[in-house]
Amino acid sequence: MTEYATILTETRGRVGWITLNRPDALNALNSQVCADVVAAATAFDRDPGIGAIVVTGSERAFAAGADIKEMESKTSLDMVMGDHFGGWAQFAAVRTPVIAAVSGYALGGGCELAMMCDIILAADTAKFGQPEINLAVIPGMGGTQRLIRAIGYYKAAELVLTGRMMDAAEAERAGLVSRVVPAAELLDEAGKVAETIASKSLPSVFAAKAALDAAMETTLAEGLRFEKQAFASLFDTQDQKEGMAAFREKRQPDFENR
Ligand code: CAA
Repeated sequence: MTEYATILTETRGRVGWITLNRPDALNALNSQVCADVVAAATAFDRDPGIGAIVVTGSERAFAAGADIKEMESKTSLDMVMGDHFGGWAQFAAVRTPVIAAVSGYALGGGCELAMMCDIILAADTAKFGQPEINLAVIPGMGGTQRLIRAIGYYKAAELVLTGRMMDAAEAERAGLVSRVVPAAELLDEAGKVAETIASKSLPSVFAAKAALDAAMETTLAEGLRFEKQAFASLFDTQDQKEGMAAFREKRQPDFENR
């Protein structure tokens, strides 16, 4: 297993785990974290033995945002020419489903990182927000776009314009998180969700994620066309035959690709 400077990685069964590990900076996302997370997620994504990925932080912080100290002295030109947050697009593009297990602060880039994942599970201690406005900037890793798609314009606008944090219960009501669990159970729950996904046939999981992503990015008509094609293409897989035969024969499927 590769050693990384700012994250810990582990494989448990068919699940790849990425734990942000900058405790002194509440897991602030600097360039090294981005490089490490992208490298680890890409390696898991290319491994046919992995069917789901969990990204988590510490009890106190999933991530308290992009690293303010790293950005403080940069100019506008530095941000553009260095494509400061550009690497995160590679993380958002992994084909394998990613579950964010959020405990404590998920602020700014931390909230944006969670929103690059497919499922957000929150501990009851979680706090979400886009406080960039307090620093006289705005979200830069997708917050203005993904938060609106997740919770709607008006609530997203309030959070982005005031910098207010919302607790886990409010985030669940708003539809940002799929479930809130007691903090002590967060990792077990995330592991269970990840294992469930990893037990399915990989081509269908990839297709489902790609179709869900399409819904975020395209018109309804285009999304429906994408879904139709992806649905049809799965009928060329052995796993589709196995899945449907297993249903008919009232037994568990034994998928080739998982
Ligand atoms: N960048 C760099 N360092 C950070 C940080 C960040 N985003 N967040 C916390 N830290 C550091 C603190 O500087 C502190 O380090 P020192 O002990 O060396 O001073 C350490 O982590 C612990 O933080 P606090 O002492 O501040 O802890 P607290 O419990 O008093 O407060 C907090 C916690 C409310 C989360 C507070 O740390 C905070 O407000 N952090 C910044 C949140 C923020 O503004 N995030 C947005 C960043 S910009 C961004 O993300 C842009 C984008 O869209 C990509």
